[in-house]
Amino acid sequence: MGNNLLQGKRGIIFGALDEHSIAWKTALAVHEEGGRFTLTNAPIALRMGKINELAKACGAEVIPADATSEADLQNLFTRSMEILGGKIDFVLHSIGMSPNVRKDRPYGDLNYEWFMKTLDISGVSFHKVMQTAEKLDAMNEWGSIVALSYIAAQRTFPDYSDMAQAKAVLESIARSYGYRFGKLKKVRVNTISQSPTKTTAGTGISGFDVFFDYAQMMSPLGNASAEDCARYIVVMFSDYTRMVTMQNLMHDGGFSSTGITEELIERLKR
Ligand SMILES: NC(=O)c1ccc[n+]([C@@H]2O[C@H](COP(=O)([O-])OP(=O)(O)OC[C@H]3O[C@@H](n4cnc5c(N)ncnc54)[C@H](O)[C@@H]3O)[C@@H](O)[C@H]2O)c1
Repeated sequence: MGNNLLQGKRGIIFGALDEHSIAWKTALAVHEEGGRFTLTNAPIALRMGKINELAKACGAEVIPADATSEADLQNLFTRSMEILGGKIDFVLHSIGMSPNVRKDRPYGDLNYEWFMKTLDISGVSFHKVMQTAEKLDAMNEWGSIVALSYIAAQRTFPDYSDMAQAKAVLESIARSYGYRFGKLKKVRVNTISQSPTKTTAGTGISGFDVFFDYAQMMSPLGNASAEDCARYIVVMFSDYTRMVTMQNLMHDGGFSSTGITEELIERLKR
């Protein structure tokens, strides 16, 4: 049972692939809070057909868009405004993909065409989304735009490979566009740096189970789940966070501020 935190608000949610996706959980949580939205994903991901289940549960329409295509994004924002009957109040960018990670290329032998794809899909697409919204004047004043990041933007996690650079780009774009959109339309732009989460993108990183367990041990509250993340995103879309912008918000159970824990000391004792 929701609290109508997002009553009357309209949005676009990118990146719901299946029921494990952070975007999937967010769509359900936003729906519960009274928000209305369109769902979108890359045409190839939509072929799985799963998203239609979610669309039905949320009363949402699905609009295909490759987040690297400006033409697709223009169509997405234009159609979303038509379907929802007005300008947009919230956008979730929940997109990540690295061909180098997917194909297990070592960091010292990256394929640079793939590297550029990683940056485009997982980083630059965030700029494209906001530039499209600005050009179409698609955002309402006091709107909220959120993208999902990971702490590998600040600290090295070897298997995260070129996704670390993509997340650094993403977080930097949030600051630069956050400044611009704040001045232009009082729209806020933030990234949420989420704990390791068992999703298709997450478990695609080799050694994921080990760093999931490590982060669990290193976080006083434990790892934040996808459902926890969805609830945080709801708050970021609500009017209770109107003055928060240009931030990378840690949503990690305390991981990023912890040096070591008793659990790890016990584990490492000889
Ligand atoms: N799972 C984790 O451990 C974790 C931790 C921190 C941050 N994140 C971030 O959360 C976000 C969501 O990932 P998730 O964990 O829910 O996994 P997921 O695999 O469910 O979602 C990733 C989504 O990106 C979409 N996508 C890929 N290429 C695209 C393109 N060209 N255009 C449009 N969409 C495209 C996929 O279709 C998929 O829906 C990503 O930014 C990811 O990096 C995940």
